[in-house]
Amino acid sequence: MDTNDAFQIHLQKLPRQDERAIETIYTLGNGHFGVRASNPLQGKSSHYKGQPGMFVNGFYDLTELSYGENYSYYAQNSQTICQLPDPRYIIFELDGKRSDETPFDVKLVDKNLDMRTGVLLEIFDIKSPTNKQFRLTLQSFASHADKHVFVVKYSVSALNFTGALTVIKQANYIDQPIQNTGDDMRAAQPNMALDRTFIKSKIPTMLISTRKSQLALIVGQQALSDNPMQVAVIDDLPCHSKTFDLTQGLTQSFSFAYAVSYPHPLLQTTLVESEFAETTEKQLANKSFKDLLTASTAKVDQFWQNSDVDLQGDATLAQGIRFNLFHLYQAAGTDGQTSIAAKGLTGPGYEGHYFWDAEMFMLPFFIYTQPEMAKQLLIYRFNKLPQAQQRAREMAVQSGVMFPWRTINGEEASSYFPAGTAQVHINADIAYAVDTYVRVTGDMDFLTNYGYEMIVKTARFWLSYGHWATDSAHAGKFVIDDVTGPDEYTAMVNNNYYTNRMAQNNLSIAVKYSKLLQHNHPEKLVALDVTQDEIDHFDYAADEMYLPFDRTLKIKMQDDVSTSKPVWPIDTTPRNQFPLLLHFHPLTIYHYQVNKQADTVMTDFLFPKDQDAEQLQRDFSYYEAITVHDSSLSRAIFGILAHRLHRASDAYRYFMETVMMDLTNSQGNTADGVHAANMGSTWLSLIYGFAGLGLEKQTFNLSPELPEAWTSLRFRINFHGRNLEITITQSAVSVKLMAGRALKFYVHHQEVEVTKKSLVNVFLKTN
Ligand code: BGC
Repeated sequence: MDTNDAFQIHLQKLPRQDERAIETIYTLGNGHFGVRASNPLQGKSSHYKGQPGMFVNGFYDLTELSYGENYSYYAQNSQTICQLPDPRYIIFELDGKRSDETPFDVKLVDKNLDMRTGVLLEIFDIKSPTNKQFRLTLQSFASHADKHVFVVKYSVSALNFTGALTVIKQANYIDQPIQNTGDDMRAAQPNMALDRTFIKSKIPTMLISTRKSQLALIVGQQALSDNPMQVAVIDDLPCHSKTFDLTQGLTQSFSFAYAVSYPHPLLQTTLVESEFAETTEKQLANKSFKDLLTASTAKVDQFWQNSDVDLQGDATLAQGIRFNLFHLYQAAGTDGQTSIAAKGLTGPGYEGHYFWDAEMFMLPFFIYTQPEMAKQLLIYRFNKLPQAQQRAREMAVQSGVMFPWRTINGEEASSYFPAGTAQVHINADIAYAVDTYVRVTGDMDFLTNYGYEMIVKTARFWLSYGHWATDSAHAGKFVIDDVTGPDEYTAMVNNNYYTNRMAQNNLSIAVKYSKLLQHNHPEKLVALDVTQDEIDHFDYAADEMYLPFDRTLKIKMQDDVSTSKPVWPIDTTPRNQFPLLLHFHPLTIYHYQVNKQADTVMTDFLFPKDQDAEQLQRDFSYYEAITVHDSSLSRAIFGILAHRLHRASDAYRYFMETVMMDLTNSQGNTADGVHAANMGSTWLSLIYGFAGLGLEKQTFNLSPELPEAWTSLRFRINFHGRNLEITITQSAVSVKLMAGRALKFYVHHQEVEVTKKSLVNVFLKTN
């Protein structure tokens, strides 16, 4: 393997990490499940320090939330993603000693993830209690062709003995407790007890069901044709087993496919266990590791074809970018029933919940490079409209819907409402994502059948949650009180700038699409009871939305009173007191001006036409000084704005910190899972930042400016059915039409046209 290739993540090249962070970094997934790259002998043994397991997207259980003071309509249940059996788990028996009973000594020698194929290669040196040593090599991948399949090939070679080694491969343990690192509320919750039933069939098969959410899935294990293995019953459990005669210098290999039922368990279809086992057996029995790999690699290839970003000039960054994009691909649900959790499928952190992270930080990458995946992610929200409608009524909001702040099943799962439920901006975030999808893809069917309803129902929420002010400070304006913006270090305020600006956008796009569909699909408006009166009301509230502004400081105010509070003494707070949320009562933090993450400046980023360069400069400087970036969602936004302000070294610094966040474990909690939103914002920084891509009129504009160290940046985007390859160097931008009809767009706001025959080549002014 060429570990210099920017598609390889080689352990030796990473900074030293704790074992659980490494497991996260090397997690393999395919949107349906993710498997942590743990010591494959760990099982239930607490002797080892890892956190093995598999997470299936959307497979969760419920626990009743207990509150000392349980007010009406607090979220009733927590939803926690389940930790499932590790398909890599294996037992060895040597000289009568079994590795699950007497721990063997396992030393990790090396790991390399080849992102071109999705194959993880790992080498472990293992010593039995009788001092026999053998090397175990694992090659594994999560199939992207067959969403329900995980494949692993084991190779063993004796290092200091000749003799028998027995392999026992069961699929049954799920009792490894989730390790919670102290009091960190962002980390995992204890894992949920699950019921397991073994199913009589030709292959070891097990039905796993949750106790309260009443979900079930089936897992089954099939030995592949490379080196078939008999099914046996050991410890009363069905398994595969074989004894190998090891000779020094000779490697023995055997491989398995591990199937996880699909379509998704959330569909709650009646699972026919015997059918599953039979189909799995039939489908996989004659397959080899190579067969399955070829099919999966073809899909991974297709992903890179459209989604790769090739950066020349900094090999470490180039690799970091690909790592982030690959993880996004591994995390995204593709069935319209699931989305992307804050930690992807790499760990138990944040309980496997979906937040605004998916729509605001990750979706743009999919919208521009994998529109079909983006559509499924939006359909997930569409499918949750009934729950969002019920939630709105519970919250005394008489019309429209209210999406939950954190969730898996569509219901609110946040037990701390000031930094949870109160983040009503989630509604407008979803609407913003729908609009971006429609503008970039031109997918009118989606708009008509799904998107419009989401936009109208979220817009209705604002009319009901907000109100027309009567006090003198806001007179005549539409105001929205008692909300929390993205900055979770400020809660329950009136007129959070971000929320109001996003709500205004939500209302405006409701007007825009109502007018469009009035012509094309009037029946849609009738079906949703949208009247001209309501459209006018949306329009008026959008026009008169109150946006707080500090006239003395000449900055956008985060909320009605934000600038009057004292500023938190950031410079004199000891480093070990960060993140503040782990060291101070929320109320202490709320007393001050201190931002956990980009809040008001998010609007400078999302609505670039709202302000001129001076206004942006003032907002940026003010908020940068009071932001501590305790959230991983923060730095990229500041980096993009620094770029727009031509503060090249700041832009580059922020970018470096975001690209390498998980590979260097810079937030200190990669063990609980990757920071998926931050990974998405790597793409935002590159494409919205350095390439300067933005929607303009009916098309897009590119205003690129590369950091000095880079020689070129090449990426693809899809726009209204066209596939374009964009290459930016220090001196030129060239755009090639790979598929589709001719297209007009802008470079530095000058119109150009790319056709099949002629590519666009625009020379950039150099300083
Ligand atoms: C951030 C939220 C984010 C959540 C999940 C929190 O720390 O403040 O904005 O949605 O993490 O990533």
